Amino acid sequence: MSDNFSHNVKQAAQWLREAQRVAAMTGAGISAESGIATFRGTGGLWEGHRAEEVATPEAFRANPEMVWRFYSARRTQLLECRPNPAHEALAEVEHCCENFCLITQNVDNLHRLAGSQNIIELHGNIWIDRCWDCAHEEPVDGVSEEPVPRCRKCGGMMRPGVVWFGEMLPPGAIERAQSAAAQCDVMLVIGTSSLVQPAASLSGFAQQNGAKVVEINPEATALTHSADLVIAEKAGTAMPAIVEALQTEPRP
Ligand code: OAD
Ligand code: ZN
Repeated sequence: MSDNFSHNVKQAAQWLREAQRVAAMTGAGISAESGIATFRGTGGLWEGHRAEEVATPEAFRANPEMVWRFYSARRTQLLECRPNPAHEALAEVEHCCENFCLITQNVDNLHRLAGSQNIIELHGNIWIDRCWDCAHEEPVDGVSEEPVPRCRKCGGMMRPGVVWFGEMLPPGAIERAQSAAAQCDVMLVIGTSSLVQPAASLSGFAQQNGAKVVEINPEATALTHSADLVIAEKAGTAMPAIVEALQTEPRP
């Protein structure tokens, strides 16, 4: 690895060590090395699908079976996927910090499987079904055989418990995320294109409130020019290196 990489990793570890409160914001890129497609770019989930065809309430109303085929295929794929070293390293950061909050846009549950605890799932969780009619929620752990699963309470159509375009975030989620962003001293922004609001605005909010923002992403994004530190590497390489630096270097 380059000197630049080692230098940046040390800087990030130093800031984490000095911080009272740490927040992390993650996107699809942190799960890429677990074999999960990201949304944008070549091979992305939205390639070949217009998002509005499968990820909007209108699409569900018009064709619930088609929307369920898309989400059942995602669940089937996810059953094969495990957390990767980046998820594990982030769970380790939580252990090292007195006060840690993980804000994720991912619905894949891999942070929880890796051991992270204080998680805000801004876009919901794919392993929850929610009734379209009565909002009853049901955790699920597999793929339904029914083309459109039905509600146990009212017989209505169940839908995946994820946030679609044009929908509100889960109640309280953005408020909790904003409060974590406002209070943190360091925010790690890992594997997100920083294009989708309101998630994308949280790092700016953190920075306005005095936090250092560290971006971890092999590609330049909408955030790159304003980040305090950019580690242009894959999360599965950068995060374990940061944790190693955090754990081996003595406290000042
Ligand atoms: P995107 O697909 O927009 O961006 C993924 C980012 O991950 C890109 O910037 C990649 O460069 C980066 N990336 C790829 N591999 C990586 C790796 N190994 N390590 C680190 N970074 C890597 O995904 P999101 O930003 O998560 O919303 O997308 C945000 C939201 O848009 C999603 O939550 C979803 C989508 O539409 C909803 O479904 C509501
Ligand atoms: Zn119901």
